[in-house]
Amino acid sequence: MSAIEELRKATMAQAQGAMALQLAFVGVANGLLEALAERAEEPAGLARRLSLDEGYVTRWCEAAYAFGYLDPSGARYALTDLGRAFLPGAPETLMPFAIQSVLGAHMAERAAGLMRTGERPGESVLAERATILPWFGPMLEATFGPLFDREILPGVPAFAEAAARGGAVLDLGCGNGWYLCRVVSRFPALRGVGLDGFEENVRQATERARREGVGDRLAFQTGDIYTHAPLEPVALVAMNRALHHVWDQRGRVFRLLREALQPGGVAVIWEPAWPADVTRLRDPRARVLAVQNLSEHVQGNHFLQPSEIEAAFAQVGMTARTQLFGGGLEAIVVATRPE
Ligand SMILES: C[S@@+](CC[C@H](N)C(=O)[O-])C[C@H]1O[C@@H](n2cnc3c(N)ncnc32)[C@H](O)[C@@H]1O
Repeated sequence: MSAIEELRKATMAQAQGAMALQLAFVGVANGLLEALAERAEEPAGLARRLSLDEGYVTRWCEAAYAFGYLDPSGARYALTDLGRAFLPGAPETLMPFAIQSVLGAHMAERAAGLMRTGERPGESVLAERATILPWFGPMLEATFGPLFDREILPGVPAFAEAAARGGAVLDLGCGNGWYLCRVVSRFPALRGVGLDGFEENVRQATERARREGVGDRLAFQTGDIYTHAPLEPVALVAMNRALHHVWDQRGRVFRLLREALQPGGVAVIWEPAWPADVTRLRDPRARVLAVQNLSEHVQGNHFLQPSEIEAAFAQVGMTARTQLFGGGLEAIVVATRPE
C-alpha cells in the first residue's frame, strides 16, 4: 500500500469513528438506547413509545445497525453489546465519548468562526445546543467519578481530616452535584453546599441528592463564584475543573477561598494538569487536553499548571501541595488555612 493509501485508510477509520460516536449521541440524547435495552422493537413502535418522529427513528435505526449498535431481530431491532456499552447507566459507560464527540464538533465549529475576530464569548457557548446541555454533567461524572472513587477519595487525606472535624463542604462550580453527593455519602459527619452558574446543573444536583437520600445534608444553589459569600466558614472548599473558569480574577478568587474556610480548613482544587513540557501533548491521553484547551479558549479560559495554582495559594498565605492522579494528567492541589 502506498503512503497516501495508508494515510487515507487511517483517516477513513477516524472519520468512521467520529460518525459512530455521533450516532451514539443521537441514541443517548433521545433515550433510544435505553428504550431498546428494555425490549427489541420496530422503528414505528420505538418512535411511538418515545414520542419521536418515525421517519427520523427509522433512519437512525438503519445507521445504528450499520455501525453495529443494533442487530435485526425479525422486523425488530435489538441492542448489541456495543450499543449496551453506551447506556448512560452501564458500568464504566462509553456514553461520555458520544457526548464529547458532538460537543467537540460544536466547539470546533465555534472556534473556527471566532478565530477570525478573536472574540471569546464565554461559558454561554456550552449552552447553545439544547440536546447537549443536559448531558454535560453526566458526561463529567461518568468520566471522572470512577477516578474519584478509585484513586482520589482514598488517596487524598483532606477528606477524612475534614470529616473528623465535621462541618460543611462548599463546592464552587458544582456541576450536577456528583462530587458532593459522593463526599457526604462517604462521610456522614459532613454537610454540603454546591454553587453553580447553570440552573440546569443545580436542578440535576438537587434531584440526584434527593434520589440518593442525602438531600437533607446538601443544598444546591445557582450563583456566581465571584460574589458567593458562604453563610458559615466551611471545613473544606472544593473546586473541580472550575478554577480555570475564574482564573482571570484569581486574586479575588483565592482571597474568597481563604475567607470561606475555618482556620485549619482545607481547599481541595482538582484541575487537569497542563504539562510544563509541550512535547507531552503528543501522548494519546494528553492530546485530548490540548483539544479541550482550544474549547476552553472559546470560553475565555485556559488550563493551568499545578505550580501556578500553588503560587496563587502562596499569595494568600496558604501553603499548597499537589498530588497527581490519572497517569499524571489530573492534579489535586490541597492547601490549608493556617489555624
Ligand atoms: C467543567 S465544569 C465542572 C463541573 C463539576 N465541578 C464537575 O466536576 O463535574 C465547570 C463548572 O463551573 C461552573 N462555573 C464556571 N464559572 C462559574 C462562575 N463564575 N460561577 C458559578 N459557576 C461557574 C460551570 O457552570 C460548570 O458547571
